[in-house]
Amino acid sequence: MRKIVISTGGGDAPGLNAVIFAVVNSATRRGWEVYGSRSGYKGLLDLDDLVRLTPEDVEGITPIGGTILGSTNKGNPFAMPIENLAGEIKIVDVSDRVLRNFQRMGFYCHIAVGGDGSLDIAHKFAEKGMPVIGVPKTIDNDLEATDRTFGFDTAVSTATEALDKLHSTAKSHDRVMVVEVMGRESGWIALYSGIAGNADAILIPEIPFCIDSVCEKISDNELHDKHYSIVVVAEGAEAEDGHVITKGSGEVGRQEAVLGGIGEWVSGEIRRRLGKDTRSLVLGHLQRGGSPTTYDRLLALRFGAAAVRMAEDQIFDHMVASAPPNMVSVPLAEAIKSRKKVDLASDKVMTAREIGICLGD
Ligand code: F6P
Repeated sequence: MRKIVISTGGGDAPGLNAVIFAVVNSATRRGWEVYGSRSGYKGLLDLDDLVRLTPEDVEGITPIGGTILGSTNKGNPFAMPIENLAGEIKIVDVSDRVLRNFQRMGFYCHIAVGGDGSLDIAHKFAEKGMPVIGVPKTIDNDLEATDRTFGFDTAVSTATEALDKLHSTAKSHDRVMVVEVMGRESGWIALYSGIAGNADAILIPEIPFCIDSVCEKISDNELHDKHYSIVVVAEGAEAEDGHVITKGSGEVGRQEAVLGGIGEWVSGEIRRRLGKDTRSLVLGHLQRGGSPTTYDRLLALRFGAAAVRMAEDQIFDHMVASAPPNMVSVPLAEAIKSRKKVDLASDKVMTAREIGICLGD
């Protein structure tokens, strides 16, 4: 009888519970036992945080947002921030302890659900000898090796719904509304929601923007008797002059910069240049919350079932990936190599331009 362990790492995304549901049910039907590691690798560091998961435990969780196991983006066992007796935070490598506990528990494999950071950690464990299978998760949809990640469709739906609501208030007040959405260095959420939500301008990291172009679009709207405008800005968008905005250069145990603030900057520039009543808002973590859409549930359930199939076939150090209409396996080393960017020659970018959306260039 095989025993497997599943963990969810990094920022949460709608659909994580659906993956857990599929893994628990398809593994149990094979006669295997499933355990869940709480908060990423915490359950493998401290066995008190390891929980047995049966079909009864996961009943009804598919439509619920977040993850029943909890998640963290500060839980890298290869560089774990740990407070010593003097109250100082030290970065410690506790990966050997994780591997020892994994072996002591007699686990056959680990299914690691996460984004680029968590998959990178999973690959490092595979190199240390842990049989690992990755499942791609991120609302940013920025993993090159898979056609889609779950969570993205829900985030786009949330952002689109917000844009729909902003149209009526912007129109009532003859205002410009600048909406900042997530996505890190990729513009997928901004592009998809901006097109679907009839934005006037969409600024994405893939196209360094010129603020004058955005202002021209707003002025052009005025000339055509449209006295309000909606501007969608991806959190990682950059001005042509290299103006990048971050909230800080990273936290302990987390290398990346914390993005955010570009929407407020764009809004200030529009107000200053056009004298137009302008407001900005940040959709932030609203995009990560709530029940997954049907699309994300289905994708997440398929990822979970495919991961167990891969475990059965002993395809380790690989990630399950969507390659419509199939699920395929991709080496983890490949999967973490590069981030997926918006293709500027794609039909979606062409559509945006053809329906009159300014992309800031
Ligand atoms: O990667 C997912 C994501 O939501 C990004 O879009 C965003 O920049 C980041 O995580 C926010 O992370 P945190 O939850 O640490 O604020």
